[in-house]
Amino acid sequence: MAITGNGSLTISLSVFVISAAFLLKGTAETLSVEGQNLGTDNVSVIEGEMATISCRVKNNDDSVIQLLNPNRQTIYFRDVRPLKDSRFQLVNFSDNELRVSLSNVSLSDEGRYVCQLYTDPPQEAYADITVLVPPGSPIMDSQEDVVSEGNETELTCTAMGSKPAASIRWMKGEQELTGKMTVDETYDGMFTVTSRLRLTVSKEDDGAPVSCIIDHPAVKDLRAQRYLEVLYQPEVKIVQAFPEGLTREGENLELTCIAKGKPQPHQISWLRVDDDVPSHTVITGSDLFIENLNKSYNGTYRCVASNAVGEAYDDYILFVYDSRAGEGAPQKIDHAVIGGVVAVVMFAILCALIVLGRYFARHKGTYFTHEAKGADDAADADTAIINAEGGHNNTEEKKEYYI
Ligand SMILES: *[C@@H]1O[C@H](CO)[C@@H](O)[C@H](O)[C@H]1NC(C)=O
Ligand SMILES: *[C@@H]1O[C@H](CO)[C@@H](O)[C@H](O)[C@H]1NC(C)=O
Ligand SMILES: *[C@@H]1O[C@H](CO)[C@@H](O)[C@H](O)[C@H]1NC(C)=O
Ligand SMILES: *[C@@H]1O[C@H](CO)[C@@H](O)[C@H](O)[C@H]1NC(C)=O
Ligand SMILES: *[C@@H]1O[C@H](CO)[C@@H](O)[C@H](O)[C@H]1NC(C)=O
Ligand SMILES: *[C@@H]1O[C@H](CO)[C@@H](O)[C@H](O)[C@H]1NC(C)=O
Repeated sequence: MAITGNGSLTISLSVFVISAAFLLKGTAETLSVEGQNLGTDNVSVIEGEMATISCRVKNNDDSVIQLLNPNRQTIYFRDVRPLKDSRFQLVNFSDNELRVSLSNVSLSDEGRYVCQLYTDPPQEAYADITVLVPPGSPIMDSQEDVVSEGNETELTCTAMGSKPAASIRWMKGEQELTGKMTVDETYDGMFTVTSRLRLTVSKEDDGAPVSCIIDHPAVKDLRAQRYLEVLYQPEVKIVQAFPEGLTREGENLELTCIAKGKPQPHQISWLRVDDDVPSHTVITGSDLFIENLNKSYNGTYRCVASNAVGEAYDDYILFVYDSRAGEGAPQKIDHAVIGGVVAVVMFAILCALIVLGRYFARHKGTYFTHEAKGADDAADADTAIINAEGGHNNTEEKKEYYI
């Protein structure tokens, strides 16, 4: 054993020359217990679950190993448990390891557990058990249920009673937002974390999901969510329902006002800017109707819609054209007509080509047949051609055959 110790010292020295001073101290300790060394790990465990403490020995020479609790009471002495607490169970006992499980861990189990090896002098290694307590379900609150566009609102999210303190993140849809976090520690060592998010809302935020996400080592996917409700002033748009084309003198005009808002606008009104609407104008809710247009009706017609948040309008500029006007418009028709004519002509050409093609194919057939017929009867080529040209009586028969 002493030789092994000296050997490892030599190796340590040669390999770690730079940190020799530090290493020498550690090696010296190991040397004094003749090369045996004891190791363990810290343990984090969620309250109520099971913790496992492992005391490991390298190069054991039958030294006795024991596990002590933070009050230095013996839990296990070799594979014997003097302590009455049956939550401690032996998982493995060998020359190299004493492994003990502790079920239903509670906060009072926290502390420094000791693995002890009965060497001379005795060796100790420490396993700190940390108990994690997950926070309760997060609670999200808001100053008000509905917010008007452009206004600021505040959301708060609270994660209570965790250990260690949780951390809170915010998301609006896919966008991460930053809140202001405050941490309070209660008398029993638990933490309550609150995050405040201030948010200026826009119309687009109406219906957007806002989540507060809790990050804590003892939980996964813990979050609270709510949907924003944003009020916004109307958006107004005037649509010319009739006529579809130019507004000509003598024609009728129908305009429709489309207004969308939250809440839905309760009031829609029509007016003519800088003038009165023609006396026979008919206004029914969002529709405006003017019969028999006259050039004197030229002007700006406005639809105004309002709700609790505000008021908005759209303008329509009426331009009454001459009753015969439309030099601009027929172009559209011309294009359509030209298109139609071209299509018809193309179709006709195509049909003619098909018919011609069929006709030629048929006549070619008859021609060759005549030639063959004449050639059969003739003594030489010249006679054959003459026969073929003269064979009109055969044509009738052949045509019938082909049809
Ligand atoms: C165990 O945790 C303590 C603090 O609680 C720390 O000082 C020590 O280095 C840790 N040991 C290991 C092996 O991580
Ligand atoms: C105990 O530990 C030893 C060494 O690590 C291993 O070979 C053995 O399988 C373990 N036994 C049990 C029951 O886990
Ligand atoms: C776990 O421990 C708590 C007290 O720490 C106790 O109330 C509970 O009944 C135990 N649960 C089980 C399953 O032993
Ligand atoms: C929005 O803010 C304005 C002042 O900035 C306030 O007068 C109005 O009441 C707020 N609207 C809502 C719905 O809170
Ligand atoms: C248009 O109105 C003017 C008076 O406002 C009137 O003299 C004229 O006859 C009207 N034209 C048509 C086509 O109705
Ligand atoms: C109305 O607009 C038409 C558009 O060409 C114009 O000819 C006419 O003079 C205008 N009438 C008035 C009263 O502005």
